[in-house]
Amino acid sequence: MNVAQIQQAVEHLKQGKTVVIPTETVYGLGADASNPEAVRRIFAIKGRPPSHPLIVHIESINALDSWAKAIPPVAERLAERFWPGPLTLVLPRRPDVLTEVTGGQDTVALRVPAHPVTSSLLKAFGGGIAAPSANRFGRLSPTTSRDVYEEFGETAGMILEGGPCALGLESTILGFQDGHPVLLRPGALSTGVLEECPGVRILRKTPGTGTLPVPGSSLSHYQPKTPLEVLPEEDLVRRSLFLSAQGRKAGILCRKAKEDCFRRAGLTPFSMPREAQAYGQVLFAVLHFFDRAGVERILVESPPETMEWEAVNDRLGRASLTRSGQGSPDKAGGFTERPRKS
Ligand code: TXA
Ligand code: MG
Repeated sequence: MNVAQIQQAVEHLKQGKTVVIPTETVYGLGADASNPEAVRRIFAIKGRPPSHPLIVHIESINALDSWAKAIPPVAERLAERFWPGPLTLVLPRRPDVLTEVTGGQDTVALRVPAHPVTSSLLKAFGGGIAAPSANRFGRLSPTTSRDVYEEFGETAGMILEGGPCALGLESTILGFQDGHPVLLRPGALSTGVLEECPGVRILRKTPGTGTLPVPGSSLSHYQPKTPLEVLPEEDLVRRSLFLSAQGRKAGILCRKAKEDCFRRAGLTPFSMPREAQAYGQVLFAVLHFFDRAGVERILVESPPETMEWEAVNDRLGRASLTRSGQGSPDKAGGFTERPRKS
């Protein structure tokens, strides 16, 4: 690791500039969490509405008390067990935590990232780094420094190189209601693994109940530039052949379906891993690849519906939402199949 670069990044943070930080989940667009102007810069660069709060990245569990108060015992146990790691805890905030960071909520999201470069940066900086994923609002999260550079060019500021992200999906976010952990966003750490921690049962948020804020709830999150469809294996082949017959370029993420039949049809298939964690690790990288390749559609073979696939299915669900104008047959540019006559 380059010590001079870490020093330079610390200087940039102290001067109120943004720095792109590698983490084990995705790259983040970081700034000094105690500098309101610096934090506002993050929102401006991303085009993110100010009401969407940021995660504060801290060096270790020892810094927890500087940001949060009234920490439920179960939150401490989870932090002890899973930090550094892909777990974000939403806790009651200390009064001095900036409104710019919390979006005006009385909670703050905290996490200790597990990446040697960013751990060194946090240690050398000594404060918290507020950082959302380093992508434009609503878009795919970056898992390489190249993804960040292609999205922002020079405007994101200094980019700390940290190699491809080891996990490739954002952190799991937990809130707390009456002292019990509630899943706010599925992520790189599955609830099954979290529940291996003694005495931990993760509650599900029932829509329309309680007072917990819903993070990342805007439905247009995690979208590639290319329209994306998720289809069961049997429909995937039919849909692909239809697009191929139309002379359309499509990228296919298959699991059980064999690559050969797509290749023969002149399409670009990618055999995704069978196992959920490995799948999540490469998902954004493959979607970025197809965005760059300039395909017109991305077709994804739907993964299983089991718990370990929760984060992958969440991201695919949001990625595949129809954007305005693109779902209607007349604007779909020949992508829509005519209803078959019976
Ligand atoms: O893995 C990750 O979590 C990455 C890396 C860079 O740490 N960060 C990330 O940040 O995904 P972002 O901003 O893209 O997503 C964080 C989510 C947002 O949906 C935000 O609404 C939610 O966390 N969030 C932040 N503070 C919150 C709070 N106080 N209450 C509820 N949700 C909060
Ligand atoms: Mg994000």
